[in-house]
Amino acid sequence: MTEKNTKSALAEFFAHDHDALDVHLDLIDFDDPSSALPALSEFHRRLERHIVWEEDVLFPAARRVAPGYIDGPIDVMRREHREIRARKAEALERLRGGDGAGARERIGVMRAVMREHTAKEERVLYPLCDQLLSDAEAGRILRLLESSPA
Ligand SMILES: [Fe+2]
Ligand SMILES: [Fe+2]
Repeated sequence: MTEKNTKSALAEFFAHDHDALDVHLDLIDFDDPSSALPALSEFHRRLERHIVWEEDVLFPAARRVAPGYIDGPIDVMRREHREIRARKAEALERLRGGDGAGARERIGVMRAVMREHTAKEERVLYPLCDQLLSDAEAGRILRLLESSPA
């Protein structure tokens, strides 16, 4: 019997990154497309890092210890990631064309999807991952993510 991870460490790590992403978005001034473009590009980089952490590290680890058990929720998360990425790409495209209002509108749509998405992760998926993975495995994942470039 493996020792279980009871400290919510993964849920806390990922929820903290959600908060950091939110703060980053709050600070973007879409009235000034020339400053908004680099700021949104940086948000894009940070969000892609977060999604890769989930899709390439966290979800596969949970799948390995409980094959089939959370495939449904993971598929929903992956579908929502595609939706979020599409709206983000549209916003970047508008900013490149100097359209700050259009970018703000697309980001508004993206944030509505993200709000629902991150709530599901924080309430259901991350706690499940913490429950399924042992302390040793959760620790290994956290060390890996914390050592990735900022
Ligand atoms: Fe996600
Ligand atoms: Fe997330």
